Amino acid sequence: QKASSSITRFPLIPVRGVPLMNHIANNWDNIWAFRPDPSDLLIATYPKAGTTWTQEIVDLLLHNGDAEACKRAPTPVRSPFLEIFSPPPIPSGLDLLEKMDPPRVIKTHLPFQLVPPGFWENKCKAIYVARNAKDNLVSYYYFDLMNQTQPEPGPFDGYIHKFMQGELSWGSWYDHVKGYWLEREKRNILYLFYEDMKENPRREVERIMRYLDLSVSDEVISQIVELTSFKNMKENPMANYSCVPSPVFDQSISPFMRKGEVGDWKNHFTPEQSKLFDEDYEKQMKDVDIPFRTLI
Ligand code: A3P
Repeated sequence: QKASSSITRFPLIPVRGVPLMNHIANNWDNIWAFRPDPSDLLIATYPKAGTTWTQEIVDLLLHNGDAEACKRAPTPVRSPFLEIFSPPPIPSGLDLLEKMDPPRVIKTHLPFQLVPPGFWENKCKAIYVARNAKDNLVSYYYFDLMNQTQPEPGPFDGYIHKFMQGELSWGSWYDHVKGYWLEREKRNILYLFYEDMKENPRREVERIMRYLDLSVSDEVISQIVELTSFKNMKENPMANYSCVPSPVFDQSISPFMRKGEVGDWKNHFTPEQSKLFDEDYEKQMKDVDIPFRTLI
């Protein structure tokens, strides 16, 4: 795999004020012009909020729990990443989408205001998954350590400040979760929480099923819950990102399926860091009431 020579940690370039990896920014006009089919489904998240998990649940629901069918290809091939343009051998999201017939399940990390307007014009369904800020930050920190295309995370303390200031790839977590929250009713977006999925996966799988106007048996729901447990997905080569060559995702630094828990932030934030973060959080989130939970 000849990716190694071309790996670089891409610099961030703002697109309408949102820092995006330069290859995304440079390809912006094509991304913005993307026209989905009305039958396409969008899965939107801030990075590390539970995207892959939700993609797997949706694929299984669409295949009536057929585990083998959902092992036909790795996650990013089954469910392309709209804006990504990775080093070879991974094709870009737009290239993959062009070759696929609708209905497609499309992943994005774009904040609401940067989602191509065709999705809303065509009244596409969209699932948003949000994760509490502290766990989301910790997960992103480890991901930035291992993903050799993302900017260097630097020391954890400085990373907390970058997160609070919205300087990470795909921008501010605060704006991201708020943007979709404020549009969820108007756009018929299913807004889910990672913590709810951990607490009661069956309930959340059933919610997704109803949103997609699907009907699968109780037995199949149980099967889907089992197949999408952290342990099973970690062992599933079609869901654990072992498809990405190690010079790009160095899983010896931190596995893609790292911990999959609520409250791991407690192992990383000092009491002082936590206090400072909470004070800033109050300010940044004072205009909305999104029921985030940092522990379950
Ligand atoms: P951690 O780093 O906290 O372990 P994304 O898919 O948006 O990149 O999110 C990745 C995060 O979701 C990682 O969090 C990963 O372990 C977690 N995750 C993936 N599949 C999961 C599952 N089936 N159950 C719980 N967490 C899962």
